[in-house]
Amino acid sequence: MSLLEILRSHRVVVTVGSGGVGKTTSAAALAVHAALEGRRVLCLTIDPARRLANSLGLSEMTTSEQEVPKELFAAHGLELKGSLSAMMLDTKKTFDQLIHNLASDAESRDRILNNEIYQYVSNSLAGTQEYMAMEKLFEVRKDPSWDLIVLDTPPTANALDFLDAPERLIGTIDSPATRWFIQAFETSDRGAFGALLSKGASLVLSGLAKFTGAEFLKQVAEFIAGLNDLFGGFRAHATEVSEALRSDDVAFVVVTSPHPLAIREAVFFSDRLKEAGMRRDGVIVNQVHELLPEPEPEADELARMVAPHLERSRFSPEEAVERMFTALDDERMRAVADRVETDRLRYHLGEEVNFVEVPAFEEDVHDLLALHRVSKYLTGELSSAL
Ligand SMILES: Nc1ncnc2c1ncn2[C@@H]1O[C@H](COP(=O)(O)OP(=O)(O)OP(=O)(O)O)[C@@H](O)[C@H]1O
Ligand SMILES: [Mg+2]
Repeated sequence: MSLLEILRSHRVVVTVGSGGVGKTTSAAALAVHAALEGRRVLCLTIDPARRLANSLGLSEMTTSEQEVPKELFAAHGLELKGSLSAMMLDTKKTFDQLIHNLASDAESRDRILNNEIYQYVSNSLAGTQEYMAMEKLFEVRKDPSWDLIVLDTPPTANALDFLDAPERLIGTIDSPATRWFIQAFETSDRGAFGALLSKGASLVLSGLAKFTGAEFLKQVAEFIAGLNDLFGGFRAHATEVSEALRSDDVAFVVVTSPHPLAIREAVFFSDRLKEAGMRRDGVIVNQVHELLPEPEPEADELARMVAPHLERSRFSPEEAVERMFTALDDERMRAVADRVETDRLRYHLGEEVNFVEVPAFEEDVHDLLALHRVSKYLTGELSSAL
């Protein structure tokens, strides 16, 4: 299935990959294409990037949905048949909403929401952002006003974190350490409790150094009591979210750059998807350097051509041409290296995985036309040279 077919036949498309490879750009470009084609699209991003907001004609990304002005498309000569809205994920707000939905009554809800340890956990616990992205997706997926939701995911140090996020968050909360912690507290065994604190092994605890003595204990007691009330619902819900991730209407697109480290991660991630029995719907290799051709004229002719432009330069025409050839060589070396890495990934993935390449543009992707241009590579209307 081509990326275009994937886009057309799914309700949710998720872009995943390591940091800075172009997940947000790819998600936005896919959303732009689908909206042009006539679907009502929500682009859900975790990225507050002003550049992305601006390229969609918005002054900034907000945590409530904003429709991209139709006039913006018209101004660029693009006919918009559907609609495009963008929204930024708010991890804390999503977590609060989850507590709202799961708490058995108002009192237990407020006990958690107002708890200082919760405030810390909901912002900082490993995996929270990934899990909340999934949580939000789960929520908007039920909303019939969207034909397509494109989800841009957080830059994970390890792209795998994302898939395991619901289980991992539960694992963190329901870990032997937490159980010991609860037990230590319940039995008021200050010895064990003290030992746990002094170990300093827990991320949560080390982040709570500002609390002291009695206040700390009170907060912990409240948090744990609140959590116990919530926990059954939380576990069942996370399982539901996790299953939703594996359903047929959700497509995963792995984004990578041709950088060796990114490729290594993409290989690893794609193997994990396969192991987990999930489809590997598509792979985008973004920012591929294209092989520039050698210039036609000979060096001495080039020197004559550049001479009139060098009047105020400290370089002679010959020096300038030599530098140009050095730069060209560097560029060609990068293109060859990118080709080797990209082919390595393509070979590893095999025929069944759809594969597209987007060239590295001279400038950042900073406006709607640039996003549209990216989308043309993604959908196969354009293909990168070599
Ligand atoms: N094909 C391209 N050519 C040139 N610049 C690009 C290209 N694709 C993306 N960029 C630029 O690279 C930068 C990183 O892209 P982007 O923000 O989409 O990556 P990301 O994977 O979402 O990053 P993060 O992991 O930080 O969220 C942006 O400035 C973007 O404009
Ligand atoms: Mg991003």
